[in-house]
Amino acid sequence: MNRRTQVGIVGAGPAGLMLSHLLNLQGVESVVLEARSRQYVEERVRAGLLEQGTVDLLVETGVGERMKKQGLVHHGIELRFGGRGHRIDLSQLTGGKAVTIYAQHEVIKDLIAARLAAGGEIVFEAEDVSVDNFDSSAPTIQFRTDRTMTELRCDFIAGCDGFHGVCRPTIPADALTMYDRIYPFAWLGILAEARPSSEELIYAYHERGFALQSMRSPSITRLYLQCPPDEQLDNWPDRKIWDELEKRFATLDGWKLNQGPILQKGITPMRSFVVEPMQFGSLFLAGDAAHIVPPTGAKGLNLAVADVRILARALTDYYKTGSRELLSHYSEICLRRVWKVQRFSWWMTSMLHRFSDENAFDQRRQLAELDYVTTSQAASQTLAENYVGLPME
Ligand code: FAD
Ligand code: PHB
Repeated sequence: MNRRTQVGIVGAGPAGLMLSHLLNLQGVESVVLEARSRQYVEERVRAGLLEQGTVDLLVETGVGERMKKQGLVHHGIELRFGGRGHRIDLSQLTGGKAVTIYAQHEVIKDLIAARLAAGGEIVFEAEDVSVDNFDSSAPTIQFRTDRTMTELRCDFIAGCDGFHGVCRPTIPADALTMYDRIYPFAWLGILAEARPSSEELIYAYHERGFALQSMRSPSITRLYLQCPPDEQLDNWPDRKIWDELEKRFATLDGWKLNQGPILQKGITPMRSFVVEPMQFGSLFLAGDAAHIVPPTGAKGLNLAVADVRILARALTDYYKTGSRELLSHYSEICLRRVWKVQRFSWWMTSMLHRFSDENAFDQRRQLAELDYVTTSQAASQTLAENYVGLPME
């Protein structure tokens, strides 16, 4: 079967769906191809923290209704070390900005519903997806559904297919430069049916390793523990997880961690990765397909949204004026933000985790950094402006 659209989008994660939504609002047609089922992508537990700019974009483009009702707005976070909590007042330090806790899969549900309501097309369970001819102005995407092979001809392809997708590896290797760093630890994450023990997120530095308390709702807590990179879930029965969390969050004044049945467990590896440039011919990479950040700064989803905002603007400009000027600067504009976000995510990760090769000097230095960040107005403001999200260019 042969078909045609203006923009062929590979991947129905936050990047692909938001791109399709933004293009539709500007009258640009797209088709989204997704390897997994609708149910799978709508239930996949991942990130949960939205920057102010992401929240504003969802609201401004008409997909923020459920988030406004169910999202939890946070005006501060806690950094915990030496048995004491230290609050960073995000709103006061950023002229009133905040972050919102609203699960990534809820954003996905809202975007899918909006695309389908607007007559948009998302092909779920698309098999054997491949991209071709993207060094020309007539790129194609091939895919199979049931037993039918389809060739989708487009003007542009957006590779929004995540870190393990097909788009980036299809670009000739000598056209790309990859930068990466793998960290000597991972995060063990759980979702528990327990009231969050504190209203705000807690980032805890402890000699046993990092721990984070987040939440999904007033009755569901999301908790993370630093663990070895090759850790197996079998080594972590529920009791051991709670005991370890209690040790890492303990305070001198006897703070209590609320516990409850564990609903989900998973291990997230930690890496920093960037590919340059984020474009080859008429194939544009966005989101995790182009970069990965360690989750300590809560940036992965937000960065994916920032990329497609720029891509949607550049594509819209092309269809309205015929100019490729913005498209030719897509990679350069995105990478400026990407590298600043990489720097912040690396810095938060380095400040809060125990490294396997560190010595007593490094620990003292980390504690001094935490002390500085929580007592200097200039340093806490730097953290806050990055955490709520740098302004869009
Ligand atoms: P993705 O969400 O990965 O979407 C890509 C989509 O493409 C997927 O739906 C995939 O099924 C589809 N796809 C892949 N290959 C193909 C193909 N060949 N053909 C068609 N479709 C394909 N970030 C945080 O900030 N905090 C967190 O706690 C956090 N936890 C995470 C936990 C895990 C296990 C993972 C993997 C990521 C986590 N992240 C977290 C990162 C964040 O979720 C991502 O940065 C975000 O999902 C990026 O969005 P994306 O649209 O670029 O990619
Ligand atoms: C989450 O709620 O899953 C979360 C929050 C903040 C982070 C990472 C993950 O830095």
